[in-house]
Amino acid sequence: MTATRRFDVSDSGIEAAAWLMRNGEVVAFPTETVYGLGADASSPAGIERIYEAKGRPRHNPLIIHVSDLEMARRMAHFNPEAELAAASFWPGPLTLLLPKREDAGLATAVTAGMKNVAIRFPSSSVAQRLIRAVGFPVAAPSANRSGKVTSTRFAEVARQLDGRISGIVEEDTCDHGLESTILSLVDSPTILRHGSVTREALEALLGPIDEDSAPQKVSAPGQLKSHYAPEAAVQMNVDRPSGNMVWVGFGPESEGCQFTLSFSGDLHEAARNLYTVMSEADASAGPNDVIAFAPIPLTGLGWAINDRLRRAAAPRPA
Ligand code: TXA
Ligand code: MG
Repeated sequence: MTATRRFDVSDSGIEAAAWLMRNGEVVAFPTETVYGLGADASSPAGIERIYEAKGRPRHNPLIIHVSDLEMARRMAHFNPEAELAAASFWPGPLTLLLPKREDAGLATAVTAGMKNVAIRFPSSSVAQRLIRAVGFPVAAPSANRSGKVTSTRFAEVARQLDGRISGIVEEDTCDHGLESTILSLVDSPTILRHGSVTREALEALLGPIDEDSAPQKVSAPGQLKSHYAPEAAVQMNVDRPSGNMVWVGFGPESEGCQFTLSFSGDLHEAARNLYTVMSEADASAGPNDVIAFAPIPLTGLGWAINDRLRRAAAPRPA
């Protein structure tokens, strides 16, 4: 057990958190998408501690977070499409998969030994200040135990990871609520994970984009089928609940539901609420209850929300 310290977002709080990271420790911090579990990406000890704390398989690589475009260019080879995507969507919730520069100085385990690296320049000012204070990119998966519900709030990070990491920067500002969109630009543009930068927005910039048909085995090993899973079983597209269901609604029909993702039917609000509602529904579910989600439309952000629900509802490993 490690004593997990709390840091506020004052300059001294950020500096203390960065000091731990520069010394090979793991600190959780908020981004505009979800909480990250961060370590200095040049530190083999820090990266090892991330895998350990998260219980993550060692073949599943980590996203690195940068505080400016120059830092990103030192880590990966940027092609014209990458420059275009970065100019349009950075800083923000888009991760680019690009060929890694061999002189980048990244710990090998960050990319699980692979030739490509996933990079994101977050818009969160706390994340940016922390990365600048570390002075090198910060490797960070989402701050949850492997396979469990992603944390978008300090309290959920503390619940899952207290005693396993050295610190948590406390600020509830994960406004998007869903993990970043992952776009591979190694070959032709391919979406490896849906997120709040939508396919429509990417296609408007880059033209037609493929969707990885078997992401769990091709290029993003972390996209295992069962993921984001609460303890209770999950069902999606449920129009009418039965006796043993905790029902999560969407839109004005949520009237009779125990929870709603958004009363007004707003997809941004639904994305922001998704993981918190999932955790709260889980806490209120009885031992044989199922968490049942009403249908979410397949437009814009609806793709990302349906993707997360599909994985939460997927068969669990024995
Ligand atoms: O919004 C986000 O992306 C959050 C915040 C903290 O930035 N991070 C996040 O990380 O969601 P994680 O580790 O939970 O999901 C990253 C996904 C995993 O499925 C992983 O397999 C994939 O990105 N990935 C990371 N590096 C990769 C690489 N070099 N090649 C292929 N896939 C990679
Ligand atoms: Mg994750």
